[in-house]
Order: sequence, then C-alpha cells, then structure tokens
Amino acid sequence: MIKILNNPSQIITVDTFGKNYKRGKEQNELNILTGHSLIIEDDIIKDLVPNSIVKNLECDEIVDIKNKIVLPGFVECHTHTAFSGSRSDEFRDRLKGISYEEIANRGGGINKTVNAVRNSSVKELVDKISPRIDYFMSQGITSLEIKSGYGLDFENEIKLLKVINYLNEKYPIDIIPTFLGAHTYPEEFKENHKTYLNLLIDELLPFISQNHLAKFCDGFCESTAFSVDEIEEFFTKAKSLGLDLKIHSDQFNRLGGIDLALKYNAVSVDHLEVINDADINKLGSSEIACVLLPGVSFFLNHQYAPARKLIDNNSIVALSTDYNPGSSNICNLNLIMSLAAIKMGMTIEETISAVTINAAKAIGLNEERGSIEIGKKADLAIFETNDYSDIVYNVGRNLNYMTIKNGEIIYIAE
Ligand code: NIG
Ligand code: FE
Repeated sequence: MIKILNNPSQIITVDTFGKNYKRGKEQNELNILTGHSLIIEDDIIKDLVPNSIVKNLECDEIVDIKNKIVLPGFVECHTHTAFSGSRSDEFRDRLKGISYEEIANRGGGINKTVNAVRNSSVKELVDKISPRIDYFMSQGITSLEIKSGYGLDFENEIKLLKVINYLNEKYPIDIIPTFLGAHTYPEEFKENHKTYLNLLIDELLPFISQNHLAKFCDGFCESTAFSVDEIEEFFTKAKSLGLDLKIHSDQFNRLGGIDLALKYNAVSVDHLEVINDADINKLGSSEIACVLLPGVSFFLNHQYAPARKLIDNNSIVALSTDYNPGSSNICNLNLIMSLAAIKMGMTIEETISAVTINAAKAIGLNEERGSIEIGKKADLAIFETNDYSDIVYNVGRNLNYMTIKNGEIIYIAE
C-alpha cells in the first residue's frame, strides 16, 4: 500500500541523520523541506520527493495537503493519565495560598486520587481514560506514556497497569506503561516505609516483570515521597528484572536523584525545577533525556526548570504535560510548548525537537519513531498552517488537522 502526502507547504523532518536524538545546539535545527511530498509504503516512511515527480509515481492513495505542514507525530513522554476522581477542592485551597506540599502532608494530594482509583472498577477507569486518549490523538500525538502510581497496593497497581495495557491494545497509538509504585507512601504505610518497599520489591516488581505489564519503572524522589536510598533499593531490583528506569527528581528538593539516575543508567530524569549547576553539567555529558514539565510550574505557580542552561550545556531536552489531577491538570501539549518558549526561553525549534525525537528518546522509541527519516515508522502529524511557528505562536490552540500512525490515518479534524 503506497500513500502520498502531496504538496504540503513544509515538511519539518527533525532529521537527526541517523543519530535519533538531538542534544544542545542540534535541538534548534529542524530541517525544513519545501516543494516536496512524502511517500509512505505500508507503515514506513519510504521517500521524500520533489512535487514535480509525484504525477509520474504509482500509488494507491494521494492525500492532498496543500496549505498544510507535516511534522513527526508528537510524543507525550510523561503522563499520569490513568486516574479517576477530582482534586478541584485542593485547587481551590491552593488558590487561597495553601501549598501543594502542605496539602500532601495533611493526607490529600496523591493519596486522595489513590482512594478514588481504589474505588473505581476497571470499566470505570477505561471509561474515564479513553476520552483523554482521544484528546491526545486529536493533537497529533502518536505515542503516549502512561504511569500507574495511584493504586499503591498490589491489587490496584496491577489493576491500573492492566487497564493501561488494555488501552494500548484498543487504541492505534503506542501507549507505553510505566510502573510508578514508588509514587508516594500510601496512607496505611506512612509510618512503615519498609513494609511498603518490600511489597514493591518482593511482590509487585517480580509479578510485573513476569507478566510484561510495564516497560519502565519510575520513582518520585522527594522529601514528601521516597528518599534516594529507598529509590536505590527499588531501582536495584527493577534493573535486575530487566526494567528500564525513570525518575521524578529535583521538583522541590535536591536529594541526589540525578546521581542515582546516572549510576543506574536511567532513560530519563523528569522535573528538574531546582537542579543545580553541577548536576546540569553531569547531564550534559550523559545519554539521559531531561524531561521538563512547565505545566507543573504554571499550575503550581512554582519555579520553571532551567531549560536554557540545560540545552546550552549540551543536554537532551524533552517536554511533556505531566498530565495529572494534582500538579498539572493540563492535557494540552501545545500549551506546554508555548510555556516552554515564553517561560523557559526555549526557541520554537527547540520545543518541536523536545516533543518529537527527544520525547521519543525519553520512552525508548527513538530508533523507530520521532523524526521523518527514510525507513522510520510513518507516525506523522499534519497541521492546518503554512508555517510551523504558528504551532507555538497559537497558545493553547490545536492546529492539528490529521494524525497518522504506522501509515494509517487515525484522526481527521472536523
Ligand atoms: O509528576 N510528582 C509526582 N507526581 C505527579 C503529581 C501527582 C499528583 O499530584 O497527583 C507529578 O507531578
Ligand atoms: Fe509526573
């Protein structure tokens, strides 16, 4: 099956010349093709050809995309989409000046959502989460990471991971499951960390690995959640079982999560709002993707991660919504790109690299996806504009016209 995406105004290839990520200065280089069409064969990007030769080519379908532009499908690399319930009462409290950490310390926060998830059936969770996935697909998102972390006991963490795996089967996009059992201590183990850690290490991790329920393991390294030593125990076991690692680190406190990520060769370090210069330098010479989440800074009215310094020190920077009910009730990746530009000093080009190839690197999909390079999977987003700057300039507005996954059209705007 040959499909031609014919006559777009621009093709933004985000070409990496086979390297499959962009670091430092490279992040600002997008490679813009004009006067070209894109040829898809089955699920693969087959060629990029001048418009003048399209009429001589044999194909099964021509999709006219005049006055539109083509980008790699967007990758959402850090979300907590698998939740139920609402925390609008806590949002009201925060508007009155009570901090996110205070709310967590008095038993609200993540544990409030844990109660809601424990009281939700599989069907209720699927019904809640499905429209969120539809909304991501409508934005041109072709791969989506979803974490567990709101079950926090054996039954409910497994329930969440099974729901995420089921949704991956149901939807045409890649949905990547991450086990976030080390999100916070559940109420019943607040005074007994050791017993909860043993549950994670001796029961949950082996079961998850045997049943292939998660690709990644993640932990929240913060004073309200897990210490470096506790995360290290969790990582040691996860790694021995063949799971890849991610860490939430340096959001409010600098506990040493970045050294741990380097030691255990994590795939990404996420948050980094309070990272220091020494750790910025370490990340600049590592292969770890730095996942920045400006929606959290906006939603909590907290400081932004030093994106400029990270990129200027040669890091691999990705962006994501961190969509969750407590610290970033934002599922609009376009808004995140604009916040990154306006509040963190990233260029428009850097934000695009950050939600395509570098986000793909943050979830281990970058060899096959995340850029328009011949031979890669045809995961594409087509936007209703003649110039890619408009994507970031139109704050919070979805300009996506068509989403293509593995060569198939999976979404067309009305
Ligand atoms: O990534 N940081 C930890 N977890 C989420 C917040 C989750 C919540 O408040 O429900 C985050 O920011
Ligand atoms: Fe998060």
